[in-house]
Amino acid sequence: MTSIQQRKEDHIRINLENDVQASSNPWDSVRLRHNALPEFALADVDLGTRLLGRKLAAPIVITGMTGGAPRAQEINRNLAMAAAHHQVAMGVGSQRAAFRDESLAPTYGVIKEHDVPLRIANLGLPQLIEWGPEASIDHARRAVEMVDAHALAIHLNFLQESVMPEGDTDATGGIAALESLVKVFRVPILVKETGAGISGNVAKVLARAGVAAIDVGGWGGTSFSAVESVRAREVADEVHERIGKTFWDWGIPTPQAVAETRQAVGSKVEVVATGGLRNGLDAARALAVGADAAGYGSVMFKAAAKGPDEAVRELGLIIEELKTALFLTGCATLEQLWKGGVLS
Ligand SMILES: Cc1cc2nc3c(=O)[nH]c(=O)nc-3n(C[C@H](O)[C@H](O)[C@H](O)COP(=O)(O)O)c2cc1C
Repeated sequence: MTSIQQRKEDHIRINLENDVQASSNPWDSVRLRHNALPEFALADVDLGTRLLGRKLAAPIVITGMTGGAPRAQEINRNLAMAAAHHQVAMGVGSQRAAFRDESLAPTYGVIKEHDVPLRIANLGLPQLIEWGPEASIDHARRAVEMVDAHALAIHLNFLQESVMPEGDTDATGGIAALESLVKVFRVPILVKETGAGISGNVAKVLARAGVAAIDVGGWGGTSFSAVESVRAREVADEVHERIGKTFWDWGIPTPQAVAETRQAVGSKVEVVATGGLRNGLDAARALAVGADAAGYGSVMFKAAAKGPDEAVRELGLIIEELKTALFLTGCATLEQLWKGGVLS
């Protein structure tokens, strides 16, 4: 097993066996206003929308998480079955491992076996910096081909890199690397944080670079500082265990990141809210504070690790809860929710 493969296995195991969530959840403080007279049927609530040019039955993204290890293939298959069943978007995890070892490509490519309406490939900004402009375009093209993607996610994870002993902590040239990829790459690019959030200022830089969408990946859910702290503890690396604990709750709370990002980019860039969403009510909260779509990481990851039926069931429940929240706020469509006035 290569070191990347081992790290992917560690991430799966640590996320399933340990509590690596933020120590509180910011969605609890977002309250929606009840409408006692909605004047339409719950069954008539319409969640249909478009994201990154693709039609979805609900404004939901299963965020990019895994691939690169045998167990990841099964989890990606189960997630893809759920995404296809409910016609929502899905990403795969960082595809770097498959460039080191071609035999790992099917652990990501399994997503192609299902009719997922929006498939999102995934690479990390640290790799774009390392590869340079030309090799980055080549890798981006291969990543998209591997999963027959409609969009490419570039993840930002300098919190995690700071806590990893083998971490890539030189962010110099990141903006230029992104700009040069966006300029020539024809597939739309989504930039995503992975749990520490996007501020209004960073969102402006991303909008200027020409990205099509931003997933704010804020604080409140899975903490990669926590994950890396646990990994460090397992190998008796006291330094990184300690740094990981100290930065466990680092980051911009997801609701705040969504509001700042929306304000910074207006309607030019699509905004996805990921980080700490636990159910469909949290999706309604996320849309009410300004997101176009709601992203789910660990909730769907844990369901998919149990099996395909559990993944389909969990996503179905999330969608039902989201519909219920729209009904109870008196919004028959997403447009009505986005118009505002539903925050308490
Ligand atoms: C096991 C696991 C692996 C992940 N790997 C990646 C990855 O390779 N690339 C990426 O962009 N995000 C990755 N993420 C981050 C998620 O996409 C998401 O941003 C994060 O889990 C926060 O969402 P949550 O609070 O709903 O879990 C991973 C998350 C989990 C739980």
